Amino acid sequence: MFYKKLFNKQTPIPETLADRIKDVQSHEIPSHVAIIMDGNGRWAKSRALPRVAGHHEGMKVVRKVAILANNIGVKVLTLFAFSTENWKRPKTEVDYLMKLPAEFLDIYLPELIENNVRVQIIGDRNKIPTHTLRVVEQAVEDTKNNTGMVLNFALNYGSRTEIITAIKNIVQDHDEGKVQVNDITEELLSSYLMTKGINDPDLLIRTSGEIRLSNFMLWQLAYTELWFTDCLWPDFKEDQFLDAIEQYQKRSRRFGGI
Ligand code: FPP
Repeated sequence: MFYKKLFNKQTPIPETLADRIKDVQSHEIPSHVAIIMDGNGRWAKSRALPRVAGHHEGMKVVRKVAILANNIGVKVLTLFAFSTENWKRPKTEVDYLMKLPAEFLDIYLPELIENNVRVQIIGDRNKIPTHTLRVVEQAVEDTKNNTGMVLNFALNYGSRTEIITAIKNIVQDHDEGKVQVNDITEELLSSYLMTKGINDPDLLIRTSGEIRLSNFMLWQLAYTELWFTDCLWPDFKEDQFLDAIEQYQKRSRRFGGI
């Protein structure tokens, strides 16, 4: 395959995508893209493989999509890597999913750094195993001065818990006299969420044919464009990501106006 280097030091993008990339870049690129990466288990099952093989394949897709998103000018890519409900899965699968961020960063962090990507996480850190948290927090530290795309992993993340925690903190600050009732606005609540400082997603992608939000960024997705595909996450490639961006660019966003 022929590759063309688009930017200094950045990972080359396949030449076959050059025309499509040029085309999407001539329109508005969504600043924040969020993805519910679903279908790893079914992908594995259809190949008579263990479910974890689907997660491993899904990890490689994360790298491809992150590199492309950064290249085309996405500012924030939030990926739902583990939900507060995923603890209900068999222990072997949970253990595997908790090892994946470390494996991903072990393999791909140098490349992400070359591409000027900044790693962040949202989610309840309390339940995340120390070995996972240590590696992820180190990556956050190592990339904190990078000015490219924020690659934001939602790890042990649940939107309702996030909102409840925000409300508790607002009430506590109110009791301490730091917040008055009339100060409570959408902006204030947003500033108490884990996504503080990050704009709401412009585009949400969910793979695998499921049409639901599964407790993901419920507050932040209020005006987000939603795009669903039957493609299973391990089969999701650069072309599908560009399909989603092209669809987004055809939408008319009115935010309740006319
Ligand atoms: C949902 O598919 C997927 C997950 C719960 C895990 C997502 C994790 C990855 C894509 C791996 C990459 C992660 C990192 C941190 C690099 P599912 O297992 O529910 O699929 P199914 O609905 O087909 O069973």
